[in-house]
Amino acid sequence: MGYSLAVAAGNHPSTSDADRIRAEARAQWGHDPAGSNAVDGALDTSESFAEVERYRYREQPWMHDTFHYERYRDQEVLEIGVGLGTDHLQFGRAGARLTGVDLTPACIDLTRRRFELEGLTSDLRVMDAERLEFPDNSFDAVYSFGVLHHIASTEAAFVEVRRVLRSGGVFIGGLYSRESIFFARVAAEWLLRGGPRKESWESRKARIEYSTSDAQPHVRLLGSRELRRALREAGFAEVSLTRRHSALGSLTYDLPPVVERTLGRVGGWYLVHEAR
Ligand SMILES: C[S@@+](CC[C@H](N)C(=O)[O-])C[C@H]1O[C@@H](n2cnc3c(N)ncnc32)[C@H](O)[C@@H]1O
Repeated sequence: MGYSLAVAAGNHPSTSDADRIRAEARAQWGHDPAGSNAVDGALDTSESFAEVERYRYREQPWMHDTFHYERYRDQEVLEIGVGLGTDHLQFGRAGARLTGVDLTPACIDLTRRRFELEGLTSDLRVMDAERLEFPDNSFDAVYSFGVLHHIASTEAAFVEVRRVLRSGGVFIGGLYSRESIFFARVAAEWLLRGGPRKESWESRKARIEYSTSDAQPHVRLLGSRELRRALREAGFAEVSLTRRHSALGSLTYDLPPVVERTLGRVGGWYLVHEAR
């Protein structure tokens, strides 16, 4: 079964498809760590990282009110897919006891550098979300934002998250929503430009990610029923989902915040979950 068919059929790709997805992820985010487009020069000074942070929360102004990073003081928190470490830093500043993993070595190096510059600590390691190298019941909370739709099996990662969470622990994060304004726009544009005759859907989805390389990261779009079911099947008894992020970027900067909030809640690009 070909790559896109295998993924469409149930997201349990063969070993070689899974290896390819991992290789493309490392190529994509090794070259362009998420958020690096905010900065022109090198990413290694406090000022460059501050620019990444300003850009992120200007684009996604709903994140602090949604995830409440300050609630995790003294808790053991694992973040999966730290990227450039911007959200990881919010947990760190709040006083969480942190562990962070990412498949891409460059992302771990950059987050480590960033934590050093801030005088904060986290146990940062290169690791695959589908094979977490931690014992059962290790964490009070697991956070993963914008990551588990880029891996071979989102379902396998959910099972791993449930395993490493303590009883009563919470899994929070966000994944791309198929039922969003942004998706509707991308799909309509792709169809109007010739659809699969001009470009495969896999390739069009890969271009959603900011890239200066020719990497083709895997992008899975989830429906809310599908996400709820996957979390339940992984062993989460309580699942609550909300939508966030209009994805209209600078178009909303000068509008009253209620516009971004309302559009995000109705047809947001992220399905935000809280699962226990
Ligand atoms: C779009 S970026 C998001 C990064 C960060 N969470 C953020 O919101 O800026 C996706 C991240 O997931 C990481 N990633 C991709 N596949 C992974 C996997 N199988 N296990 C762990 N991390 C993975 C990538 O290296 C990349 O840093």
